Amino acid sequence: MEQKDMLRIVLVGCGAMSRAWLQTATELADVEVVGLVDIYEEAAHARARELQLTQALIGTDLGEVLERTRPDIVFNCTIPEAHLQTSLQALEAGCHVLSEKPLAASLEAARTLVAAAKRVERYFAVMQNRRYDANILRVRHALASGELGALTTVNSDFYIGAHFGGFRDQMRHVLLLDMAIHTFDAARFLTGADPVSVYCHEWNPAGSWYDHDASAIAIFEMTGGLMYTYRGSWCAEGLATTWESDWRLIAQRGSITWDGGKDVRVQQVQETGGFLSTFRDVEPDLVERTERTQGHSSAIRDFVACVREGRAPQTSGTDNIKSLAMVFAAIESAESGKRVAVSW
Ligand SMILES: NC(=O)c1ccc[n+]([C@@H]2O[C@H](COP(=O)([O-])OP(=O)(O)OC[C@H]3O[C@@H](n4cnc5c(N)ncnc54)[C@H](O)[C@@H]3O)[C@@H](O)[C@H]2O)c1
Repeated sequence: MEQKDMLRIVLVGCGAMSRAWLQTATELADVEVVGLVDIYEEAAHARARELQLTQALIGTDLGEVLERTRPDIVFNCTIPEAHLQTSLQALEAGCHVLSEKPLAASLEAARTLVAAAKRVERYFAVMQNRRYDANILRVRHALASGELGALTTVNSDFYIGAHFGGFRDQMRHVLLLDMAIHTFDAARFLTGADPVSVYCHEWNPAGSWYDHDASAIAIFEMTGGLMYTYRGSWCAEGLATTWESDWRLIAQRGSITWDGGKDVRVQQVQETGGFLSTFRDVEPDLVERTERTQGHSSAIRDFVACVREGRAPQTSGTDNIKSLAMVFAAIESAESGKRVAVSW
């Protein structure tokens, strides 16, 4: 990319998430928010007022705003059903695109976007903010040291009694579609493995405040023979896990437990030969909290840096479609009652 002093940004979808995106954008010295788009013009005006984006062009028609502002980057913060159309239009106008998760509302739409980004030679990436978290990086580093040997088994539990009271209460596959993408992507990030097949069972627990299934258990076979299990519910009162899930990672010479927060425990085999091996506790290195470990904000900074430096973002559509494929394969398995191959 030709070096420009300022990268021009248009943000589409000025709802709840857009505040955090725009806050970061306004903190970056080398970007300029030149346009805000929402089907409800007042939503865009409200964000412009709140963040004092007085120079930004406000509109309800993305095509028109793109034409008039000629941005380098489009931030897509619309609802999942609008992700395909918004990202496609932005890519075809020659923009790099960072989209809120999920990449798209269907695998077919995701494939269309990945192909479009390749065709127009623009970066297209997805907000997987949990990859930019000091705690998950700490677990990842502990695994990468190689001391524990190869990973064989990974379990994650996600239990939160979430009373959203909005559209989610009526949504089908609410947990798998709206939340599990984060956990599945974290499983790929931690293990470095890709999905092969899945068997999933979904149900709605008695007394649920959701119209459809809000609990699921999925067993994934991953590359290298690694097994990954997911147990989750948005309808589980008491003893909540973190939003990052509660994890156990078992390797050939030891295990890690991680509560999704600051509690990371590592035990490594010291001696084998008896009925039980003996172990030593290992204190995993702390990962410093920096600009690179601030979730959304770091993901946005990294994407802007990728565009500027001409390097592929780690959550590119090409990679992220594999996490999305886990979601749709789990849903297909739950609906068919059969084990399903994961393809993308
Ligand atoms: N990464 C995370 O942790 C995280 C957390 C919550 C939500 N999200 C994702 O962020 C996205 C937005 O969620 P939200 O909570 O901000 O939703 P929201 O409903 O508050 O905001 C969405 C906005 O997009 C606008 N919009 C819808 N269709 C549009 C279109 N075609 N063109 C322009 N504007 C359009 C709506 O009018 C609304 O203002 C979703 O994809 C959601 O899954 C991500």
